[in-house]
Amino acid sequence: MFIGAIGCEPLQLKRVGLENSRTLDVYRQHGGYEALKKVLDGMSPEDVIGEVKKSALRGRGGAGFPTGMKWSFVPKDSPKPKYVVCNADESEPGTFKDRFLMERDPHMLIEGMLIAAYALGSRTTYIYTRGEYRYLINILDAAIQEAREAGLVGDRIMGTEFSCEVFTHTGAGAYICGEETALLNSLEGLRGHPRMKPPFPAIAGLYGCPTVVNNVETLTAVPDIIKMGGEAYQKLGTQKSGGTKVWSVSGHVNRPGVYELPMGYEDMEKFIMEDCGGMLGGKQLKAVIPGGSSVYIMPATDIVGKKVKMDYEGLVVAGSMVGSGGFIVMDETVDVFESTKNLTEFYKHESCGWCTPCREGTDWLVKVFKRIAKGEGRPEDAQLLLDLCDNIEGKSFCPLGDAAAWPIQSAIKKFPEDFRRHLMPMATRTAEAVAAD
Ligand SMILES: Cc1cc2nc3c(=O)[nH]c(=O)nc-3n(C[C@H](O)[C@H](O)[C@H](O)COP(=O)(O)O)c2cc1C
Ligand code: SF4
Repeated sequence: MFIGAIGCEPLQLKRVGLENSRTLDVYRQHGGYEALKKVLDGMSPEDVIGEVKKSALRGRGGAGFPTGMKWSFVPKDSPKPKYVVCNADESEPGTFKDRFLMERDPHMLIEGMLIAAYALGSRTTYIYTRGEYRYLINILDAAIQEAREAGLVGDRIMGTEFSCEVFTHTGAGAYICGEETALLNSLEGLRGHPRMKPPFPAIAGLYGCPTVVNNVETLTAVPDIIKMGGEAYQKLGTQKSGGTKVWSVSGHVNRPGVYELPMGYEDMEKFIMEDCGGMLGGKQLKAVIPGGSSVYIMPATDIVGKKVKMDYEGLVVAGSMVGSGGFIVMDETVDVFESTKNLTEFYKHESCGWCTPCREGTDWLVKVFKRIAKGEGRPEDAQLLLDLCDNIEGKSFCPLGDAAAWPIQSAIKKFPEDFRRHLMPMATRTAEAVAAD
């Protein structure tokens, strides 16, 4: 398995291969906590937010919202406590980058959280992990304790007026608890279902107080932004998407792994065929899901010879999204009907049941997929699946509903033949007509 950077100097992954990389000593020997020192030595909270704005850092949790802008929404004059919450739920199928960052370099996350807390006037921060990351909590707690003993967490950090605590918290293993407001409910000990927005967490988040929720990779980018300056960080990527991005690569490539690329890396085909070692067993590329299971599937014809740029804008032009950076490569042996059925079962299982379109709709989708898989497909089933998706997309309480619909809509559109094979002969026309829409 490959772990490293291609096309740029590693930033996020620069320490992951070092012996004892998770210790404070190694972190400090390689520039750790210098950014926090720089901040506490003379930057104001506004200066910090200004550098993050200049960096063009966009949230790495999936939505790609500009981080500096999100931080500036937190009201400075609010008398309430303010919270920084790290979203380490990482439950999106195909995504495993945050795990590596926390497992190999936990101090980078702690430093990023402390800088965020300073910028936002927060004294209390939380790292929320999925239930299955129990083992990571031990690693993070050990790192927090080390930092506390060194005067980097707790009261009067580095001898200054700034005091801040970092706590860990684990969920019980529900995908929906990665959605930021469901996460906050879960952190408060409530049932993990999403909250109505607005108000957004920046105004009324944890315990009704101003809260910033950021992904692990977003926060681990912050120390380097402060050290090198926002402008220099932005220039590593594109004007609208600064810096580097960490991709979790899985599936039918010779070298799966965790790859750090500059934002706007110029060619997805080159990335698969050269950087990831090419297709496993010399087979043909059939499809890629570039941003975790919730984004549109891309057929090889939209990738080969197309110089697809790997950043937020480039992937939208190419018909998909960066999402969480869970890059799943599929070869010619994959039946996209089967892989989409599998994902749909995931969404049905993970639907929190709070709203009717998603709760009932994902259940119906799975029923139809299962009936088709049993050989009882009907000519109109491709259209039936699309109608069900239409009743979920944009009509559900939170984006999980959309996330359940998009893979099916794009799979039927881009791979009609894989659905046709599972339907009765009459279905051929239906699937083709659907694809032509
Ligand atoms: C169903 C669902 C699951 C999500 N899971 C995660 C997750 O595991 N990790 C994450 O950082 N963001 C996840 N998000 C996105 C968060 O709601 C939120 O946008 C993100 O934590 C904000 O951080 P960022 O601005 O740093 O990206 C999820 C969203 C939805 C709708
Ligand atoms: S869309 Fe699904 S996951 Fe989101 S609130 Fe509704 S039932 Fe829950």
